[in-house]
Amino acid sequence: MKLFDVYGKLNLCPVKGKGAYIWDDQDQKYLDLYSGHGVVSIGHAHPTYVQAIQAQVAQIGFYSNAIQNPLQQQAADLLEDVSGVSGYELFFTNSGAESNENALKIASFVTGRNKVLAFKNGFHGRTSAAVAITDNKKIQAPINLGLEVALETIGDTEAVAMRLRSSEYAAVVIEGIQGIGGAQTISNEYLQFLQQICQETGTLLVLDEVQSGFGRSGKFFAYQHADIAPDIVTMAKGMGNGFPVGGILVHERHKAWKGMLGSTFGGNHLACAAVIAVLTVLKSEQLVNNAQEVGNWLQASLTQLPELKKVTGKGLLLGLYLTENSAQLRNELLHQHQIITGSATDPTCMRILPPLNITKQDLIPFVATLKTTLNHEKVHIR
Ligand SMILES: Cc1ncc(COP(=O)(O)O)c(C=O)c1O
Repeated sequence: MKLFDVYGKLNLCPVKGKGAYIWDDQDQKYLDLYSGHGVVSIGHAHPTYVQAIQAQVAQIGFYSNAIQNPLQQQAADLLEDVSGVSGYELFFTNSGAESNENALKIASFVTGRNKVLAFKNGFHGRTSAAVAITDNKKIQAPINLGLEVALETIGDTEAVAMRLRSSEYAAVVIEGIQGIGGAQTISNEYLQFLQQICQETGTLLVLDEVQSGFGRSGKFFAYQHADIAPDIVTMAKGMGNGFPVGGILVHERHKAWKGMLGSTFGGNHLACAAVIAVLTVLKSEQLVNNAQEVGNWLQASLTQLPELKKVTGKGLLLGLYLTENSAQLRNELLHQHQIITGSATDPTCMRILPPLNITKQDLIPFVATLKTTLNHEKVHIR
């Protein structure tokens, strides 16, 4: 049977990982500055994680939400402790898109409204409501076009206020940092404005922290840089370090009722074991701080490279903008220097999102290689 061929793939077949490195099927070692779309948060094959998954699967790997599963509460308590976020309740999902799907559903249940305001250059997933609020027509099928969505420009206050004052919008959805959109940060002032206008108009503010959450930005959630308290926060990626698990935090002022949401796999025993292991390691190894410190250092080092047009992002979610398409450089870094990097919607952007336990020592060779490669390629400032 052939595979349904939807993915453009790198010519790379990893078989082993450790920390910020992976090895391919020829035993060639690579520095992983991509973490498989920003998923591997505590590093490949972390011993605490490996042990937790092994022990859990040997006990009980799965049962559905029809039973008592104390691991869910353990994960929720640890999440509150490590994130420093209180006053929220946790619902488990299995992916980022599913988290956003459920966030929109809650917003619509709570407000009784059916329109959504999202932003240009945003990405929220590929399921029906999530893709409908994503700024990419190419991945929207006709069946996804039923939801009434307005896409506004980040930074615009007037158009957003005008729309929300119609009292027709259930939710405003925004990424903590636009990830696939090229590591684009949102100003604190703009997030504070959104919180204010949402409160004023009875609209729910949904922060999509699927990529920017779980420590990547140097705070547990990127929105915490702006000191706001969204109605709903959506998570996935770094939450399970590769185990497919997601979740939403719902502010306690929005009440659950039996049957409101549901999932067969959500919050199963193995998923909880993965989340607990991730949170335990984030806490014990202070990886959120590490993301901030190493990220700041990396951003400062890269900003000094005159060959780069600009460096965007926060913590360990950075966008390096070249004066031309980044594909050739990324290819050269991969095949000649064994460094894996990410792309973004903007073809001139190279996205850097390594495991959060990466060190300066791991990154010094990358900065040096980038410098010589850029010089060699004569990719100059526009
Ligand atoms: C900000 C954001 N939201 C949602 C998603 C969708 O997540 P998933 O692929 O787990 O459905 C992604 C995936 O890249 C993302 O970056």
